[in-house]
Amino acid sequence: MNAMAPATNAGATMRPAPIIEARGLQRYFNVNGKRLTVFDGLSCAVQQGGFLSIVGPSGCGKSTLLKLISGLDRPNGGEILFRGKPVTGPADGMIYVFQQYTKSIFPWRTVIQNIEFGLASHKSLPRAQAREKCMEYVKLVGLDGYENHYPYQLSGGMQQRVVIARAMICEPAVLLMDEPFSAVDALTRALLQELVLKIWSDIKFTVLFVTHDVEEAVFLSSQIISLTKAPATIHENVAIDLPYPRDQIATRADPRFTDFRQRLFSSIFLQEKGIAPDDLKTIRSK
Ligand SMILES: Nc1ncnc2c1ncn2[C@@H]1O[C@H](COP(=O)(O)OP(=O)(O)OP(=O)(O)O)[C@@H](O)[C@H]1O
Ligand SMILES: [Mg+2]
Repeated sequence: MNAMAPATNAGATMRPAPIIEARGLQRYFNVNGKRLTVFDGLSCAVQQGGFLSIVGPSGCGKSTLLKLISGLDRPNGGEILFRGKPVTGPADGMIYVFQQYTKSIFPWRTVIQNIEFGLASHKSLPRAQAREKCMEYVKLVGLDGYENHYPYQLSGGMQQRVVIARAMICEPAVLLMDEPFSAVDALTRALLQELVLKIWSDIKFTVLFVTHDVEEAVFLSSQIISLTKAPATIHENVAIDLPYPRDQIATRADPRFTDFRQRLFSSIFLQEKGIAPDDLKTIRSK
């Protein structure tokens, strides 16, 4: 199956070449002498500039897919291509943002020092210039005035902003995010969703976003793929043609938002209840 993400950010009409392709991915784990097959020939493609979310039941392989794409994990068969070249390890141009930001932020460094770490791993600049660039990103994520605070002096949402700034300062072509907002409250989450969309539309990069939250996926994405339980296949591949820029109030009030949410939620929920995707198609067609 082939999940083709839409052309690009809002407004563009041409469909560029895929920036990422997964071809015939196989991944299995041996757990207590038993083989668990997570992927048995999964293929998908991500268009440059798209915001692609991956949803599906717990344990279906969403995080595994993201790790394989990032090069942090290797497939047992098949391949990942990034800009047409095989991924054999963590690739330049891709940045992975983990769910547990408290584990990826350095508690002994201030906000600006944490962000500087991202910059230093990306390019070396004279000190004054590096500071200036870091301040740009401090401002970009709305942490102006907090640059000399330590993580323990920040709320969870503010810490997540630091992580986003540290990722963005590397100027990634692809940002991979695995449930990045699952640990923050609903209001902070809504603000962070708007922040990521704003940065995405300003800077124009590609996002792969894993989430449990179908509403979050619909709000953010230009394309959503929904996976079945392991061995995972692509059950739904939906272009979310709601206009950008999106707005937490207006977009969510759009009746098409509710339609997308309902369609994807029912597919995942019924799978969790043990109704197979093929049965689901039969139920829907009645
Ligand atoms: N390193 C590993 N060793 C053994 N099994 C693993 C490993 N990594 C993942 N798995 C198994 O692979 C399956 C897919 O895991 P994965 O973490 O990708 O699921 P997920 O869709 O991200 O789930 P969740 O929504 O709960 O985060 C699960 O059954 C998991 O137990
Ligand atoms: Mg996961």
